[in-house]
Amino acid sequence: MLRIRVHAFGLNYADVLSRKGLYKDAPPFPFVPGYEVSGEVIEIAKGLDASWLGKRVLAFTKFGGYSEVLDCSPQVTVEIPKDYSFAEATALGTQYTTAWCLCREWTKVQAKDKVVILSAAGGVGQALISFIKPLGAELYLGSRSKEKAEALAQEHGAHPLVYSLKKPWYVGMPSQSKADVVFDPMGGASVGKGIKHMAPGGRMLSYGVAMRSDKMRILRDVSMLWGFGLHHPIALLLGSKSLLTLNMLRIAEQRPDLLGTWMQRVINEASKPGFSKPKVHTFAWNQLPKAHEFLASGKSMGKLAVECNQA
Ligand SMILES: NC(=O)c1ccc[n+]([C@@H]2O[C@H](COP(=O)([O-])OP(=O)(O)OC[C@H]3O[C@@H](n4cnc5c(N)ncnc54)[C@H](OP(=O)(O)O)[C@@H]3O)[C@@H](O)[C@H]2O)c1
Repeated sequence: MLRIRVHAFGLNYADVLSRKGLYKDAPPFPFVPGYEVSGEVIEIAKGLDASWLGKRVLAFTKFGGYSEVLDCSPQVTVEIPKDYSFAEATALGTQYTTAWCLCREWTKVQAKDKVVILSAAGGVGQALISFIKPLGAELYLGSRSKEKAEALAQEHGAHPLVYSLKKPWYVGMPSQSKADVVFDPMGGASVGKGIKHMAPGGRMLSYGVAMRSDKMRILRDVSMLWGFGLHHPIALLLGSKSLLTLNMLRIAEQRPDLLGTWMQRVINEASKPGFSKPKVHTFAWNQLPKAHEFLASGKSMGKLAVECNQA
């Protein structure tokens, strides 16, 4: 184990769901949320390489990240690039690593692909844009907010895509335009019917059920599950379409080696000259409730991080 003095921890949308009791994988209350911390190594377990001591690092944590000092596994701890602040480094944790797995490990985006990124203003969405935009693919950037979708489209030379529970992403696609790759944290019909709106060779990457966070929970849950639909492999095969999923918690539990490898690849990519750094909103530790409110409001863009142990 590495003992880390935490200088910043990251917030993720799952923290909001966990706080509301809507996140299936969360431990029973009371528990400490938080999936990633960055800080300096102040102590190491016997037998570990002494060069870890004093290093500026980013670590993945399966809950417990909202801490001042934390013991983390070296398998999922990486050194952060020199020109990154601790707060900026938190973005490279869960969100950039999730995005990396989705667009570089699970599928390979091609230059001519039409790529739909839903919740494009969020942390994972911003990371997907950073990794995919340089490839030259045609981007459709989605948000529930027209203003956000248009601002994103303008910033990245992409198409805006506005959607809602009643009007999923494919309704907003130009007619005749079928997606090659869809990054979907929404779930339900967005995935189920979305598959029909993909071209042959299309890949649907499903990694969340964001619509669960509202109040009409049971009704919405049933409707969301129904919306996913049933996808027989033969139907997918005939259409040459793929449905891929990702749950980082399962990977962290069962394949920490894989997670550590992806984290290191993200660090390598983020260290390249010209890589655009993540956008981060930083809060002081005593502003945590405000940070959560902002995240839950859906108005945030990019990563939210909380600083602690500041001199
Ligand atoms: N499977 C995994 O391993 C994994 C890993 C990381 C994240 N995720 C999931 O990926 C999604 C995005 O994560 P993130 O870290 O990028 O979050 P984030 O930075 O908080 O971004 C969340 C985005 O989700 C949208 N949103 C907020 N409330 C919503 C609601 N009630 N219904 C629908 N959309 C809502 C907002 O987009 P607009 O308002 O612009 O529409 C917001 O920009 C989350 O659902 C998260 O649970 C999954």
